[in-house]
Amino acid sequence: MNLYGRAIILCVLLFWAEIVPAVPTFSGQYSIGSLIPGLSSLQALREGHSRKSAARHLNVRPPNTVGNLTITTGAGGIPLFYIHRGRLWRYINETSIHAVNIINGTEEAPGTNQIPLQLMLEEKPGGIDTGVWKWKGTMLIYQLGRANNSGVYYDCMLPKGGHGLLTFLQG
Ligand SMILES: *[C@@H]1O[C@H](CO)[C@@H](O)[C@H](O)[C@H]1NC(C)=O
Ligand SMILES: *[C@@H]1O[C@H](CO)[C@@H](O)[C@H](O)[C@H]1NC(C)=O
Ligand SMILES: *[C@@H]1O[C@H](CO)[C@@H](O)[C@H](O)[C@H]1NC(C)=O
Ligand SMILES: *[C@@H]1O[C@H](CO)[C@@H](O)[C@H](O)[C@H]1NC(C)=O
Repeated sequence: MNLYGRAIILCVLLFWAEIVPAVPTFSGQYSIGSLIPGLSSLQALREGHSRKSAARHLNVRPPNTVGNLTITTGAGGIPLFYIHRGRLWRYINETSIHAVNIINGTEEAPGTNQIPLQLMLEEKPGGIDTGVWKWKGTMLIYQLGRANNSGVYYDCMLPKGGHGLLTFLQG
């Protein structure tokens, strides 16, 4: 069984993220996407599910806070993200942005021999600082050294309770 097959034992759902064209345009105003290149919401696609099922987005709960990133159906607004100098940022307004940080979990994920990385939204850049976020087509890739996550993310119930968005490096 491959990593994905094993990881599903721990994780309820399997997602990968896709760029969606920048959302807000108000008549008479610039679209935010034209002010910050690449600003977009991040839609999660669940493996094996049709793109027509309810859209789910990378988000935090409650909205506009920091904490564990998760996947929501967009109630309370769909956050916007962009990549700048290899880091992924969440745009709130002209004066406020938050950093998407990759945190090294210290324990193996049950059912795998891998140490998961967790996506956290924090006020300042932190966590592993040598990785790079990039787009490959519509897929959001996290790369660390020569390894990358193939654009695959897992929405997981964590072994010690709580909820988190995990990813694994391969190669
Ligand atoms: C920007 O968002 C932050 C955090 O939500 C808020 O404290 C601040 O008042 C907002 N600033 C503007 C100009 O809307
Ligand atoms: C995460 O931490 C473990 C244990 O300390 C270490 O073996 C591993 O190399 C770390 N992974 C990354 C990507 O830094
Ligand atoms: C957030 O993730 C941590 C593990 O990094 C976990 O201990 C915590 O319970 C999670 N919080 C929530 C609200 O799910
Ligand atoms: C990610 O890693 C795989 C396996 O090493 C490699 O084939 C692929 O080209 C890499 N993708 C990117 C976007 O770097």
